[in-house]
Amino acid sequence: MIKVENVHKQFGGKQVLCGVNFEVSEGESVAIIGGSGTGKSVLLKTMVGLIKLDSGSVKIDEVDIRKCSSLDLRATQKKIGYVFQEAALFDSLNVFENVAFGLKMLTSLTTNEIRQRTLQCLSMVGLENIENLKPSELSGGMKKRVGLARAIAYKPRYIFCDEPTTGLDPIMSNVIGNLIVNLKNCWGITSIVVTHDMKYVYKVANKVLMLCNGNIAFSGTPSEMDNTKNEYMKQFVERSKCGPIVKEKVEYNEQST
Ligand SMILES: Nc1ncnc2c1ncn2[C@@H]1O[C@H](COP(=O)(O)OP(=O)(O)O)[C@@H](O)[C@H]1O
Ligand SMILES: [Mg+2]
Repeated sequence: MIKVENVHKQFGGKQVLCGVNFEVSEGESVAIIGGSGTGKSVLLKTMVGLIKLDSGSVKIDEVDIRKCSSLDLRATQKKIGYVFQEAALFDSLNVFENVAFGLKMLTSLTTNEIRQRTLQCLSMVGLENIENLKPSELSGGMKKRVGLARAIAYKPRYIFCDEPTTGLDPIMSNVIGNLIVNLKNCWGITSIVVTHDMKYVYKVANKVLMLCNGNIAFSGTPSEMDNTKNEYMKQFVERSKCGPIVKEKVEYNEQST
């Protein structure tokens, strides 16, 4: 269970989050939508303690991540697989080592089990036979998928993803959507995903939150979103449905984008 209560965050006098409130129950698939620069990434980072919030609280399984000890914070962070908007892979490690990193650090799996799990997770995100490549040899979309494989590898209780399908072609976006549904059904993982991808929202989310002017302007199911009377929300959804799709070539030896 995640409880976000009255969260405020400002940078240099600019108020980005002004009293954000919402809850996420076990097994939910939440999509956070909203215009560029509205604070979606900041919100996700405050929820995992990567950015310190100014006031309010984020409780993950009853642990207040702002007030708990650093030991409890670490233990809570271990429950969360985080996929950064910019993938954030270790450039000096190859793909296999990037995905296996958390398994080595956080689990007591054997070398063989780590190998199996790593290859399984890479296959789940549609990547095979690229374990020995370095991040610099991957396209943006491939890096993102490696980041996702790394986040799910140790079967966290929660997964927080910042725009997992941006930069992917429609087929790969669909693979990622299916993957997150499967993570919920097979591994019971609760997900919070920041996205602009309305196909993802309809396919995966059971709750949609819209961030606008530092607050949650809408909270409801995808069908409630479709029937909303909120004019801004209506326009946002309609425009997002026909937004640009960035194509990704999927050959593994292409240069970084
Ligand atoms: N570390 C930071 N220092 C200063 N300003 C920041 C920082 N991180 C984000 N911001 C600002 O917060 C606002 C929201 O950013 P962000 O959460 O990245 O938006 P988005 O909704 O597109 O993910 C932006 O105006 C951004 O410039
Ligand atoms: Mg962002």
